[in-house]
Amino acid sequence: MRLGRKWKCCFVLKMGERRVHELLSLHLLLNFLLLSFAAESTSMEEDMNALDSLKNLMQNLPQSWEGSDPCNGWEGISCTESRVTSIKLAGIDLNGQLSADIGSLSELRALDLSYNKNLGGPLPREIGNLKKLEELFIVGCGFTGPVPDEIGSLPELAYLSLNSNSFSGRIPASIGNLSKLQWLDLTDNQLVGPIPVSSGATSGLDMLHNTLHFHLGNNNISGAIPPELFSSNMALIHLILDSNKLTGNIPNTLGLAQNLTVVRLENNFLTGSVPQDLTRLHNVTDLIMYNNNLSGPIPNLSGMTSLQYLDMSNNDFDPSEFPSWLQNLPRLKSLIMGSTNLEGKIPAAFFSLADLQTVVLKDNKLNGSLEIGTNHSRQLQLIDLQNNHIEDFNKQYEAFRITIILVGNAACYERGSETSTLCTIQDKPPSELTRNCFPDKCSNPYQISSPNCKCAYPYVGTLSYRAPSYINITALEENLVRTFQSHHLPVDSVSLIKPPCSPFQCFKLTVQIFPSGQDHFNQTMISAMSVLLSSLSTTEAYTFILGLDNYGLESSRKSSNTRIIIGAAVGGSVSLVLFLLAGVYALCQTRRAEKAMEESNPFGNWDLNDRSSPRPQLHGAKRFSFKELNEYTNNFSQANEIGSGGYGKVYRGTLPSGQLVAIKRAQKQSNLGVLQFKAEIELLSRVHHKNLVSLLGFCFERGEQMLVYEFVPNGTLKDSISGKSGIRLDWARRLKVALGTARGLAYLHEHANPPVIHRDIKSTNILLDERLNAKVADFGLSKPMDNCEKDHVTTQVKGTMGYLDPDYYTTQQLTEKSDVYSFGVLMLELITARKPIQRGKHIVKVFRSTIDKTKNLHGLQEILDPALGLGSPLKELENFVDLAMNCVEDSGADRPTMSDVVKEIESMLKSAGLNYMPESSASNSASFEEVNNVTTSSHVCNSNESLDSSSLCNIRKIEPK
Ligand SMILES: *[C@@H]1O[C@H](CO)[C@@H](O)[C@H](O)[C@H]1NC(C)=O
Ligand SMILES: *[C@@H]1O[C@H](CO)[C@@H](O)[C@H](O)[C@H]1NC(C)=O
Ligand SMILES: *[C@@H]1O[C@H](CO)[C@@H](O)[C@H](O)[C@H]1NC(C)=O
Repeated sequence: MRLGRKWKCCFVLKMGERRVHELLSLHLLLNFLLLSFAAESTSMEEDMNALDSLKNLMQNLPQSWEGSDPCNGWEGISCTESRVTSIKLAGIDLNGQLSADIGSLSELRALDLSYNKNLGGPLPREIGNLKKLEELFIVGCGFTGPVPDEIGSLPELAYLSLNSNSFSGRIPASIGNLSKLQWLDLTDNQLVGPIPVSSGATSGLDMLHNTLHFHLGNNNISGAIPPELFSSNMALIHLILDSNKLTGNIPNTLGLAQNLTVVRLENNFLTGSVPQDLTRLHNVTDLIMYNNNLSGPIPNLSGMTSLQYLDMSNNDFDPSEFPSWLQNLPRLKSLIMGSTNLEGKIPAAFFSLADLQTVVLKDNKLNGSLEIGTNHSRQLQLIDLQNNHIEDFNKQYEAFRITIILVGNAACYERGSETSTLCTIQDKPPSELTRNCFPDKCSNPYQISSPNCKCAYPYVGTLSYRAPSYINITALEENLVRTFQSHHLPVDSVSLIKPPCSPFQCFKLTVQIFPSGQDHFNQTMISAMSVLLSSLSTTEAYTFILGLDNYGLESSRKSSNTRIIIGAAVGGSVSLVLFLLAGVYALCQTRRAEKAMEESNPFGNWDLNDRSSPRPQLHGAKRFSFKELNEYTNNFSQANEIGSGGYGKVYRGTLPSGQLVAIKRAQKQSNLGVLQFKAEIELLSRVHHKNLVSLLGFCFERGEQMLVYEFVPNGTLKDSISGKSGIRLDWARRLKVALGTARGLAYLHEHANPPVIHRDIKSTNILLDERLNAKVADFGLSKPMDNCEKDHVTTQVKGTMGYLDPDYYTTQQLTEKSDVYSFGVLMLELITARKPIQRGKHIVKVFRSTIDKTKNLHGLQEILDPALGLGSPLKELENFVDLAMNCVEDSGADRPTMSDVVKEIESMLKSAGLNYMPESSASNSASFEEVNNVTTSSHVCNSNESLDSSSLCNIRKIEPK
């Protein structure tokens, strides 16, 4: 064919030459016609060759792609004057690759291969030869590799959609040459590197003055947003850069792009203050900046008078009152400012903005009483103020149609408020397909009843909106039906369903398109609908992605015999997945509901006065009112302050009975979440042991969190060994302190149910009572171990430097052995009176380098505390050191358990001839029994630890290093 074409070409040219010489004017016209006819037919063949080549590399092309004239009946192809000008093959499950010969279709204006997830490989460079190409849609396919630079040599290109593929590499700077580009969509790929801007001879996206859309979200684009990108003569309306790795400031030049209507910068690493120039963007309807590290003052955006949707959540803005300018945004529908350091009262006038629908201000410090006012917007649907400091609300709000959530506010912990609807989270049922009729059950279980109650296999996909303010479900449903019907597609109805979503990310809808006059769409119809959905996406503000399993796709390609089987199989797998999802969803809903119940009323089943309460969770802990504690501490007077720390202060108080108590009052900043606080109290009230400081009660009121403990008169172990408290602790006393501490810890690890890891054992957390018995305090960081499958808790590293288990620090896997390590450090501290880290040296290293077992006292005299009062060399002290060194082994598995440690110290006391009380008679048996009814089960948790009791600390050899 190629030979033939060349020959024809030469012949015509030669003939033309001769004729021009011989017959000048007469045959000129004929000559011209001949020439152009020849050229045309050549190009037609070239088109045919390119299509042949395409067919070679792609499967599942329409069956109509047969014969020698693509302009005659080939599905998806349009021609003008016998030349292929458009190829639209969306959503037909093409698979394979795109041939490089696509570049020979020199008249091609539109190419749409969207929604063919099995079509992939690289996008050939030859795409750059399509000099007339105006539209390139390759959405939701499997293309990989870089976007070729040659994409920048398509002078006519107006629409470029390469979203939802797996393109990698950088954004080609050459895209800046596309002077007619209106639409640039590279969303949802794996692009890296910076946003290119022009410099010197190189082009960049800043040159795209006519482009209306920059959609670059959901990639790995890094670097700063270049200030050069924006200028006052650009047409840009949508700037979508969310979910990348952008850093640096928001450039103030953004304020120059006056046509902007949507600005999405969320989920990046942007820092610095928001430039005040943004307020000049008078036409912006959606401004979304959540999940960045923006700081400084909350910007005054009073000039953005078109704003409908504003989300600034999860940034580091300076603490601020509720911005008063928000009341001047006449069109505001949704305000979302969670975790933005807002404080003070919300002005009632704000709620009277006429279009206001959704207000989410959770996790702030808003206070005062909630006033919505009688003039509030009739559109209001949701006011979510979870976890603020709101103290009061009007009981009438319970009757409002608006969902108001005050869970986690002081107002919900006043007596009598717990049951208010404002103090509970009601799960909304998931939205369902709306029908105007009562659906019959479909006889085929894989079909769905349409909005008009006709059973069918719908065409299914997902629509992601570019911005929330564009979502108008009813209008889009109607528009889609109208569009399909005007293209003679047998569409009965379209339904858009909002899946359950977080307030931040409610941009997605499930779309179901139902056939009319038949129960499924055939391939041609599906392709046509896909092409329409693809092209509509540029005018309606959405991105469409085809659902994974569409019945029609499979069935239409197979013979009618297999159709039913395949249909059933595909439908079956869809409905199996749906069924599983539904199950998981239902389970989550139940869990969520339970959790919500608990969150809303954390102290509901704690009321000790309520005798009907089936299972009191508190063992003797009392709920105190703020007024009572205020009285007991003499208005929290400074004279009663006995300690302070990052968490807040500790006060001494005197109960009316004369009993002394220690009251730990959390600073408001360090307040635990409600559930955490509740968990803490439940935990503390359950552990009763004479070597643990016991909890007497708590106060949770007016945003205060206080814990009331027994008062332990002789202060901290640290104050005693440092000599600060004036108590002299000799060797015998120190051994007893070690024993008491070890018993307390062994109890927490092995007898508490659930077992508890202390996480912060240190000398300031060991208190001494009047008889110098050790009492372990401060379970502030304790974590119960939840279930038997887990023998560790993965968590953020907490604890105190010097005592921190290196194993835990590196793996972040917390086990009881982390407490054993801290306890080992404490033992070394006990005999040296040295801080764990002193002059930059860690006590464990000091011991490892000093121990010499050939010498008396392992050669440690130099570093032992003289106050130990040791006379002659003591075997027990050597054993004590060996035990301590065993406890600080690098690997948790090499360390003993706390009950091993207890046994060892007991035997040291015995062999030193010091009297000690065995655990059994020492413990408070009454409370012990009450709490330990399930002790055996907690042992099961540790049964995989095969540390038999013979591997005691001092049996192991410690080699000096
Ligand atoms: C803002 O929108 C209005 C009305 O929608 C329009 O007339 C005006 O030209 C727009 N302004 C800019 C700067 O785009
Ligand atoms: C916000 O800016 C507007 C216009 O620049 C100004 O009139 C208003 O007083 C400012 N509001 C606040 C609270 O700073
Ligand atoms: C509310 O918070 C503000 C700022 O933190 C504070 O100045 C004010 O006293 C508080 N109001 C009430 C009623 O607690």
